[in-house]
Amino acid sequence: MEKLDGKKLSSQIKNEIKQDIDKIRSEGGNIPHLVAILVGHDGASETYVRNKEKACIKTGIKSSVLRFEADISEKDLLSEVAKLNNDSDVDGFIVQLPLPDHINEQRIVEKIKPDKDVDGFHPVNIGRMTLGMPAYISATPFGILTLLKRYNIKTEGKHVVVLGRSNIVGRPVSILLGQKATPGNSTVTLCHSRTENLKSITASADILIVALGKAEYVTADMVKQGAVVIDVGITRVKSGKTKSGWKLLGDVNFDDVAPKCSHITPVPGGVGPMTIVALLHNTVAASKQEIYKHQHRP
Ligand code: GUN
Repeated sequence: MEKLDGKKLSSQIKNEIKQDIDKIRSEGGNIPHLVAILVGHDGASETYVRNKEKACIKTGIKSSVLRFEADISEKDLLSEVAKLNNDSDVDGFIVQLPLPDHINEQRIVEKIKPDKDVDGFHPVNIGRMTLGMPAYISATPFGILTLLKRYNIKTEGKHVVVLGRSNIVGRPVSILLGQKATPGNSTVTLCHSRTENLKSITASADILIVALGKAEYVTADMVKQGAVVIDVGITRVKSGKTKSGWKLLGDVNFDDVAPKCSHITPVPGGVGPMTIVALLHNTVAASKQEIYKHQHRP
């Protein structure tokens, strides 16, 4: 069994991005600038945004965070998004989710200009991705594809089973791996809460991608001998054994499942760190206008 070490790989990719940024700087080019909008004080969101900022600093990408109180109106938040759309100093931006209940997330996401939508959440980017056109691919699916690619895991002709059909992980990763591309060319089965005979499907997976948000849901009896298992889950649970008082659990019962796998991602240190480098990659692509070359900013 080989661990897919997202921590080590993400650190290597951050070095590659840093070299690219150093070169841009030495040539007097445009240093990519990422902005994150953070509304309220949700603990997990604060951590995500802080980790994104740290990664930007490490690579030399310019990063800013715009903070707003949880009672900001939807109208005011829409106008902040419009400002960033029109700010030529900003290459890409994200609105950290979830947003407070009185704000319609979809309305906010749809307001982001697709060529600055480095989260890849806008329907235009999701549509383009689905058609196999150049698009910003959202961080988790991009991170999973990068892990598979850099570890030379063959996906062609393989049966990929995805557990979970969310718009930001399960559905896009199922679309991407079914496409005529590398990684890709897989036969994909997308399973969800209504799937019947789940165990018989997961047990036939060459590659099992789990994005359910249910701690330690997948056990050894659900996994084929020699499978590749990608665990996207992160559930924070109380723990008496850690300094912070918390520990993170994946959707896969690691100790039970790992002995059966050819490769498996740990939690933490698997998919998580890869998502951050995906966002950095998209930000650099935005600054180089690689996805929407034909579009000119004001
Ligand atoms: N909340 C959890 N994951 C993400 C993400 O990738 N992007 C944004 N904007 N919010 C999130």
